[in-house]
Amino acid sequence: MQILRTIPEVRAARQQVQGSIGLVPTMGYLHEGHLALVRAARTQNDHCWATLFVNSLQFGSNKDFTTYPRDLPRDLAMFEAWGADVVFVPEAGTMYAQDFSSFVEVENLTERLEGAARPGHFRGVTTVVCKLLNITQPHRAYFGRKDAQQLRVIQRMVRDLAMPTTIVPIETVREADGLALASRNVHLQPDERQAAQALHQALQAAQQRYAAGERNADVLRAAMHAVLANEPLINVDYVSIADDESLAELTTVAGPALASLAVHIGTTRLIDAMELRCEITTL
Ligand code: PAJ
Repeated sequence: MQILRTIPEVRAARQQVQGSIGLVPTMGYLHEGHLALVRAARTQNDHCWATLFVNSLQFGSNKDFTTYPRDLPRDLAMFEAWGADVVFVPEAGTMYAQDFSSFVEVENLTERLEGAARPGHFRGVTTVVCKLLNITQPHRAYFGRKDAQQLRVIQRMVRDLAMPTTIVPIETVREADGLALASRNVHLQPDERQAAQALHQALQAAQQRYAAGERNADVLRAAMHAVLANEPLINVDYVSIADDESLAELTTVAGPALASLAVHIGTTRLIDAMELRCEITTL
């Protein structure tokens, strides 16, 4: 596995490549969710490349950025064991020169949900992902469905700006009790970890009501709130039943829809999402 740290090194490696590249952009502190992306990238392409960069631009508070979990030696060993061919690990200065002044902004879609809760977050995400795609020039790039709005924002950016990379969504990987794997889960105390099961349970409650025929979005949102209210350690940030494409809140679910939520448990903020399906599912 090649570990590259500068843009010229990546450009040189890119020129050597024959065949397709599948890219997995990450912020590290890897887990089985990231593994699912690497597996798909390996299976569907001739080469699997990954990036590891904790992107300051997408963090609201400096504290969230500095406390974001990091373990570079462990992450590199994991990428190697998973069969990545190249990992790009840039320094902050490589990505953001002191006078860096160009940003990518997707409008509307970024104003709701995570965008409303975390001003500037998606501007940071789209700017870094655009730059990572420009540097690595992959045929496909892999993103998780857990970060449902991020996935849609990146798909929109790639479409709007005619970027020559196919975005491939990957199903959320969960713990046995349903909690979506996330790097920030490491911050949860044992009682908080227990309470965190409620995120998936809330999504399932909405999904079950939907599969049983409920189409009133307020009733679906109330079903999610009811599950979360059983956990005193949970502070709800938002609960949403939105149009799957525009992410606008719905009154009635008449087409593809996304159930999503964000909560605080202690000092940790967690998000999760599920596309509503007509059949009963255990996802
Ligand atoms: P990070 O949180 O490290 O996630 C990297 C990728 O892994 C994202 O596409 C995310 O959706 C996916 N992922 C995380 N948890 C997952 C799970 N449980 N199941 C499936 N996929 C999962 O998301 C980011 O980094 C950053 O915003 C980034 C896109 C790298 C830009 O900085």
